[in-house]
Amino acid sequence: MELIYTGSGKKVYRDGDRLVKSFDESYTKAMVLNEALNQARVEETDLHIPKILEVSNIGGFWSVSWEFIEGETLAALMDKDPSREDEYLNLFVDLQIEMSEKKVPFLGHLRDKLHAKISASSYPSSLRYDLHVRLDGLPRHKKLCHGDFQPSNIIITPAGVPYIIDWSHATQGNASIDAARTYLVFYLQGKEALAENYLALWCEKTETEVGYVQRVLPIVAAAQSVKANKEEKELLSKWVNVCDWQ
Ligand SMILES: Nc1ncnc2c1ncn2[C@@H]1O[C@H](COP(=O)(O)OP(=O)(O)O)[C@@H](O)[C@H]1O
Ligand SMILES: [Mg+2]
Repeated sequence: MELIYTGSGKKVYRDGDRLVKSFDESYTKAMVLNEALNQARVEETDLHIPKILEVSNIGGFWSVSWEFIEGETLAALMDKDPSREDEYLNLFVDLQIEMSEKKVPFLGHLRDKLHAKISASSYPSSLRYDLHVRLDGLPRHKKLCHGDFQPSNIIITPAGVPYIIDWSHATQGNASIDAARTYLVFYLQGKEALAENYLALWCEKTETEVGYVQRVLPIVAAAQSVKANKEEKELLSKWVNVCDWQ
């Protein structure tokens, strides 16, 4: 097996036509099985995603095996050829919209997850209250949301077919929340221009007002702060505190 990626608490190997993600003890059984179950549910749509082949436990450590998808991540392609950024961004937004048109009725609800995250955040209770109220005021859609839709979670095959990977945070809910999170992630990565271009394009293609997504940002930023480091927390508070404005 060839080690191809090391993330926090996990190692990713290639074993022939398989991709094996091996988790350490910071991942509970429930977390690993949840990732596998989410993915299995999304596999029932006609989206291109790698299929899960096996869940196993070796020496106390859980691991999940997937079909290996040949190709490069969209993040790597974007880094390699900045002149194609517009083209890649178009593909990225089209794929996110195609995904959000799918229904996966047994997935957890994004709203529930966000309420729990807001409660777990360290903002003052009055601000948390405002965020809960704002979240409850959003239209209750049941669109497929990825939860971490970013170019590193898309693999483009040599034939040009985009595969979406990493479904551990998948839920059903309001697609503007998924888009707001993508925007924030670009921002946290220091890609501010890309973040703005992304948001403008997503809003144009979905006929959504930019202000609508902006009103969702404080909620997403508060949720994101729960597992953020100090530096990220400072950036995120900037968005959370905008909640006072309306
Ligand atoms: N099915 C797959 N086929 C090929 N490469 C994959 C596959 N799944 C993941 N990878 C590679 O491993 C990296 C990490 O996988 P990912 O599921 O996104 O983990 P993380 O949760 O740490 O982001 C990806 O960016 C990609 O390069
Ligand atoms: Mg990933």
